Amino acid sequence: MTIPEPPDSSTVTTENPDSYEKSKTAVSQQPVQLGVEQVDEIPEKWKVSPENRAVTSAFEFIDVPAIDLSLMETDRAELARKLRDAATRGHFCRIVNHDVPLELMKEIEIQGKKFFGQSIEVKSELVGRGDAVAYYTGNNTTEWRHSLHWAESFAMLLGPWNTVDLDVVKKCTAIWVTADDEFRKAFLKYLICLKSTTEKILQLFAEGLGLKSDFYSSVLEAGIAARWNYYPVCPEPDEVLGAHSHTDPQFLTFIQQDQVDGLQVQLDGQWYNVETVGGTLLMSISDLFQIWTNGLFKSVLHRVLVNRDVPRFSIAWVISVVHKQDLAPPEELIDEKHPRVYRDLTAMEYFQTMMTSRLEKATDPRVFNGQTIIDNFRI
Ligand SMILES: [Fe+2]
Repeated sequence: MTIPEPPDSSTVTTENPDSYEKSKTAVSQQPVQLGVEQVDEIPEKWKVSPENRAVTSAFEFIDVPAIDLSLMETDRAELARKLRDAATRGHFCRIVNHDVPLELMKEIEIQGKKFFGQSIEVKSELVGRGDAVAYYTGNNTTEWRHSLHWAESFAMLLGPWNTVDLDVVKKCTAIWVTADDEFRKAFLKYLICLKSTTEKILQLFAEGLGLKSDFYSSVLEAGIAARWNYYPVCPEPDEVLGAHSHTDPQFLTFIQQDQVDGLQVQLDGQWYNVETVGGTLLMSISDLFQIWTNGLFKSVLHRVLVNRDVPRFSIAWVISVVHKQDLAPPEELIDEKHPRVYRDLTAMEYFQTMMTSRLEKATDPRVFNGQTIIDNFRI
């Protein structure tokens, strides 16, 4: 994703993800609504080059390490080790028994689908302008891709996590005509629960690296963004991608998905399907975390495939760091065998280089892989 970017008393848990109904709703054969256009056939601007085409069924599913946060007290060191191993490999983790109640996750999915189910006319009025804190992007509004994503999205820039309150949520949903106050309260509650989950994950990451538990606590002072994604059915899914191969530029991403497969991860040069498991959160390392760990952790390379039968929904919670953050690795990670890999830089410097590269080389798919950007900073 490219946007810059405490549990309550409800005791609903995520212990039984299987109860999360598969949302395989039959879709009609109406012309596909995509962004602010309707298409019966795939226009050229959406078609990916032959070497980048993919079919979900052609790939194997890969195991995703599960991080069970209910074991925080009893098996903390093992959780930290599992997180570190997955991050070192550039793989997703699946967070189970996190603090976000299943009811809130369902509510987010219901409301998200309601939003994207609005008419093209309504949504086209919500395309981002200026310094909007929330905006819609049908993909024909994105001009700097080598080909357009077969997807729609709605971004919310919520600002520093510690300052998010109901007023912030109201501002970010002001143009969301299907939102009501009940939804806004649920959304805020979700954020509070996600923050609690993030605090635990940050502690485990730090401990897995041999650092003080609060080493990454400043991350909670940085901005968080929500990116709502909707991948419509596609008459020719082999010719498009819901999201091209990319890494996320920020620090960390949590993803809530519905039960439609399509997410893939690349490991050791091979693409694998990532199974959706309701009630869980997928988590991935992003570019800034790779730099901050001296390259020990790897930013997760991923993409999204679409299909002709079932639309797909997800929401990505994009965790960033403060722009002035010095990304020099902690001294605990540096020794003779592990010398500094990247020169001194701040998060802002990375973002600027990333955006410039993407704008100048928009037709080159490789520029969306953070490794090509990060390499600019090698010593
Ligand atoms: Fe992404």
